[in-house]
Amino acid sequence: IRTIWTATAVALVATAAAAQDDAALREEALSWFEPIPLNPPDLPDNLVTRDRVDLGAMLFFDPRMSASGLFSCQTCHNVGLGGDDGLPVSIGHGWQRGPRNAPTAFNAVFNSAQFWDGRAADLAEQAMGPVQAGVEMNNTPDNVIATLMSMPEYVEAFETAFPGEENPVTFENFARAIESFEATLITPNSRFDQWLNGSDGALTDVEKAGLNAFIEEGCASCHNGINLGGQDYYPFGLIERPGADILPPGDRGRYEVTKTVSDEYVFRASPLRNIGLTAPYFHSGAVWSLEEAVAIMGSAQLGIDLTETQVQEITAFLETLEGEQPEVVHPVLPRRTETTPLPSD
Ligand code: HEM
Ligand code: HEM
Repeated sequence: IRTIWTATAVALVATAAAAQDDAALREEALSWFEPIPLNPPDLPDNLVTRDRVDLGAMLFFDPRMSASGLFSCQTCHNVGLGGDDGLPVSIGHGWQRGPRNAPTAFNAVFNSAQFWDGRAADLAEQAMGPVQAGVEMNNTPDNVIATLMSMPEYVEAFETAFPGEENPVTFENFARAIESFEATLITPNSRFDQWLNGSDGALTDVEKAGLNAFIEEGCASCHNGINLGGQDYYPFGLIERPGADILPPGDRGRYEVTKTVSDEYVFRASPLRNIGLTAPYFHSGAVWSLEEAVAIMGSAQLGIDLTETQVQEITAFLETLEGEQPEVVHPVLPRRTETTPLPSD
């Protein structure tokens, strides 16, 4: 009986110590990271109303917003695939390959820096880009408006989503509606968030060790906030430049936006939510293994060779960032009329 008591006491002491460790690690973690809120955030200059979200969903899924009638936002930001296309670099109009990997549209609303190089200020500005990009949807704002105006159901949906506006079918409102829909593409309640919110058992010891290493080794200094990234820019290869296969010399990152030499090969610290779902990795999409991406970050950004155990632990932690995926019903889209512009090559 004595040994049973002793064993129980040891177990109790161990549990208490673990709880204390959790409390200390949680306090540290909360100084770096934030859980994803359960509801879409407020947007500057926009509203997340039911009507606007519904319209945004139609536009997000409608391939007729592209010149060819083939590509929609969903093509490259598939809501069933973590908001991503799972390709190294996206394929768009005329089977052209774009220069970069598509980032997930999930939780993008929490990124203060948009795109790999921060070209757009917010999601509404962003949504105007791909429609016009030659390698993506290759369309013009005028043709988008003509397409929308040709279908009475769309005109009605814009009137309902933007009440009181005399001429609601504009390219700006097209972008606003998509932004509202994207604000609903958030993935709360990951095991990491459950743990941040106080549930000690939501992470395993290995995952907690990974979280600890992520903070202690310095990853969190660039990957922090709600999305563990998506906030700021850093040179990719800060300490040691990765090979040309991973960092192709032709894409100089933020330099293309600012034309400032110090911005050469500067990219946004990637948001890491749902990172287990969005291989391949880096703006080049050259790396399929998350463990390999973690090891590369260690040498390129921190100048350290992470041990195999550290790589495995950090990867295990990153896998816990997978949240509840949004369940999106594919909308029924308005039928075309005789005046709807025809698809073009
Ligand atoms: C980037 C939304 C269409 C490929 C993004 C981002 C968002 C987004 C929110 C930035 C995410 C972030 O910075 O974290 C949309 C919407 C679309 C659309 C609303 C429809 C209007 C497409 C299409 C393709 C595509 C059709 C592929 C042909 C990409 C790529 C990037 C990107 C490659 C990264 C570009 C860069 O950083 O230089 N998109 N997208 N997108 N999207 Fe889309
Ligand atoms: C990208 C993890 C440290 C800046 C990434 C990616 C992962 C990752 C998995 C790829 C994300 C994707 O492709 O979607 C880590 C880990 C770190 C670490 C585990 C610690 C060992 C850092 C540090 C910095 C940084 C310290 C800043 C000095 C970046 C940048 C990118 C990135 C700029 C984008 C690279 C590109 O252009 O493709 N990180 N990171 N990271 N990280 Fe880190």
